Amino acid sequence: MDNKLLAIAGGSTLLYMVLSTLMAILPGIELSAVPPGPNVHDLTLLQQRGRQVYVSEGCAYCHTQQVRPLAVDQVFGRPSAPGDFAFSTPELLGSERTGPDLTNIGKRQSSEIWQYMHLYNPRSVVPQSVMPSFPWLFKVVDEAPKDIQAVPIPKKYAPPRGAVIPSRDAQALVAYLLSLKQPELPNNKPLAASATKPAQAAAHAPAPGNTTLTFDAANGLKLFATNCASCHGAQGAGVPGVFPPLAGNPVVNAPDPTEHIIVVLQGLHGKSIAGTSYAAQMPSFAAQLSDAEIADIIGHERSSWGNHAPTPTAKDVAQIRAQK
Ligand code: HEC
Ligand code: HEC
Repeated sequence: MDNKLLAIAGGSTLLYMVLSTLMAILPGIELSAVPPGPNVHDLTLLQQRGRQVYVSEGCAYCHTQQVRPLAVDQVFGRPSAPGDFAFSTPELLGSERTGPDLTNIGKRQSSEIWQYMHLYNPRSVVPQSVMPSFPWLFKVVDEAPKDIQAVPIPKKYAPPRGAVIPSRDAQALVAYLLSLKQPELPNNKPLAASATKPAQAAAHAPAPGNTTLTFDAANGLKLFATNCASCHGAQGAGVPGVFPPLAGNPVVNAPDPTEHIIVVLQGLHGKSIAGTSYAAQMPSFAAQLSDAEIADIIGHERSSWGNHAPTPTAKDVAQIRAQK
């Protein structure tokens, strides 16, 4: 009897140990030995501190940092590879996506000012956001010190008086967020080449009876929502004084779309638009968007919110991209 018990207890313990070695310990050892992928760098001290703030504020309860090889995940970047995580042990993969995946947030939302406004109160840049505010990462002072730029919080969300400045923790957190960028894998095709995918090519053929449409309106609307609306607003109204409105913007309504195309390809900084100077910069999209995608977005902007101007084709974008 005793022997039987021993055999059952010993046998199951042994089985448990063999299985955990095979399924957890060996893969773990193998994974930690994976060398960093090309262009994967270690974090700076400030970024490491930001990563600790990310953990202690519980950001990982609502945000993942893993792109799965699924079509629904394509908006977040390419599928994650083991070499991406070489310098981030323990990995902050997360399991809940109450908010978007942040693997590539440094590329998708590279504006420091946007990140500060969003952390202070997400509604100040994303009106329908349900993300909690993190005001304790900021200080309200009478006047911002010379070396720190005050965060331009819209009146509706700003404290009654004083200037909002980021604490050292907020600076570290934003430095960490902006460091989250997926390096390209070496054999990735350049984006411009993907413009001629058969499905997209078909979508770009003008609908029967509508020979003037040079772009795919549904795709333009979708791409604008994912790439541009966080700053310029879904209705093109912008955020007063911080991100310019695109409704009625002269570049968007100019008969010649060349300047419009250049702004989207290269980004923009330091231009005064309709008498307002903007401290934030417009990121460059040349590396993220194909010619056809840019043509669709520009088509959407030039035919929405009361704008009415000629729309360029993917070929027009390709020509300007080649000249620059
Ligand atoms: C309770 C859940 C929740 C928590 C906790 C949370 N977020 Fe979010 N987050 C969201 C939601 C929902 C969105 C989408 C709406 C928006 O953009 O505000 C979002 C959006 C974002 C975005 C913009 C993503 C994009 O693709 O545009 C960033 C950046 C971000 N969060 C960072 C953080 C950081 C940093 C923390 C921790 C300090 C944090 N979040 C904590 C729910 C959360
Ligand atoms: C991180 C915030 C941000 C995002 C995202 C963003 N923009 Fe901008 N955009 C700006 C800012 C800031 C300016 C004003 C820059 C300046 O005045 O120098 C601007 C200016 C513009 C202008 C006006 C140019 C002019 O000369 O009047 C256009 C057009 C524009 N953006 C289009 C887009 C499109 C299209 C996208 C998406 C593909 C986009 N923006 C995404 C911040 C952003």
